[in-house]
Amino acid sequence: MNDLSALPAEFLWGAATAAYQIEGAVAEDGRAPSIWDTFSHTPGKTAGGDTGDTACDHYHRWPEDIGIMRELGLDAYRFSIAWPRVLPQGDGPVNAPGLAFYDRLVDGLLEAGITPYPTLYHWDLPQALQDRGGWPARETALRFGEYAAVVAEALGDRVTDWATLNEPLCSAWIGHLDGVMAPGLTDLTAAVRASYHLHLGHGLAVQAIRAANPHARVGIVNNLSPSEPATDRPEDHAAALRADGHVNRWWLDPIHGRGYPQDMLDLYGVDLPVRAGDLETIAVPLDWLGVNYYFRDVVADHPTGGVPYTRQVPTPGAHLTAMGWEVHADGLEQLLVRLTEEYGARRLIVTENGSAYRDTVGPDGQVHDPERSAYLEEHLAACARAVRRGAPLAGYFAWSLLDNFEWAYGYDKRFGLVHVDYPTQKRTVKGSGRRYADIIAAHRLRAQRAA
Ligand code: FCB
Repeated sequence: MNDLSALPAEFLWGAATAAYQIEGAVAEDGRAPSIWDTFSHTPGKTAGGDTGDTACDHYHRWPEDIGIMRELGLDAYRFSIAWPRVLPQGDGPVNAPGLAFYDRLVDGLLEAGITPYPTLYHWDLPQALQDRGGWPARETALRFGEYAAVVAEALGDRVTDWATLNEPLCSAWIGHLDGVMAPGLTDLTAAVRASYHLHLGHGLAVQAIRAANPHARVGIVNNLSPSEPATDRPEDHAAALRADGHVNRWWLDPIHGRGYPQDMLDLYGVDLPVRAGDLETIAVPLDWLGVNYYFRDVVADHPTGGVPYTRQVPTPGAHLTAMGWEVHADGLEQLLVRLTEEYGARRLIVTENGSAYRDTVGPDGQVHDPERSAYLEEHLAACARAVRRGAPLAGYFAWSLLDNFEWAYGYDKRFGLVHVDYPTQKRTVKGSGRRYADIIAAHRLRAQRAA
């Protein structure tokens, strides 16, 4: 067993999900379509034509799901709030029944002794706002700030810990540049403008949340990947620096008051639509920084490829998950230490980390997934090493509580600690879920003994 004794006594043990990936009930109680409804219903955009129409039916089964969280012994639950439930047109009148769902969920969590960690935006932009320009338009940032105010006023009496955006990199780069996520554009100018307005929206949302509750603790969730050159060639070193700029620095520097990295501004060649005061809003100090970690980037120069002119180089002999992602726990340690040393982080939370494998329910009715347990243990050990090196790591959220709609990959990729049989919606805690529960219980016992 790996040594996790360095994790602080009050370490927060959680699991994460996102609205469109689990809720289903897309047309219920006044919810209007988001860009993901449109995208997933567009032929050829998702594996098998899968959509989030039903997903895990969490909209109706949330009490059972809270029961599972209790069974696992979770301290905290990270979920996202669907903007198109709360403000179906993106702005305008509040849809009370949509907001009421999150009200019930928060109350249910608190009754179960589980701290709610809502994220305001996990990729499901109201389609109505997309029709008015989406994230490349400044208006969307302003509307996001207003939406944040509505939610914070409704839930801020019970919710203290908030995240604004989930992985703005994916919204901007994968949604507007690579085109494989909603809204499916391949336009560098739109992508860069989207990234800017996501940041601006984030800053406005932080202000709105704090205005509603001065005691709120607000953070942002970035997906980060350490980047390494595939060879010692100077071209590959330069490629790794570009990959780092594209994936890490572009997302970290502005929120730390450093502005946008000049090398990347030069590379993109797109003017940012900066107005007076924006960069200060974007750099509003945060209470914590969320890190989603899945893989590192080992890259080579690729001048004829797309921005940032790099290509991923597979590591020979690497262990890959069902996503084809290399398992490399050291990358998580490296990131947490970098955020501490280079960005002066004061409170870090691993807001997502996990793995997809081809799980099946065995004849014994159980799901045996030793690879996911090993992945979990290795990454928690990496967290503990980072703590020993000074990282102020306060918690870890496993991705994901449940198997769910894995975006363009559909239901084929299973990340859950809990298996979902979609036709029957039956939940089965996997071996890794039980392993996680044991790790949590052991940590609590150790903390109690030390107290
Ligand atoms: C992250 C997303 C999350 C899930 C995992 C596997 O990029 O935030 O919704 O798709 O990857």
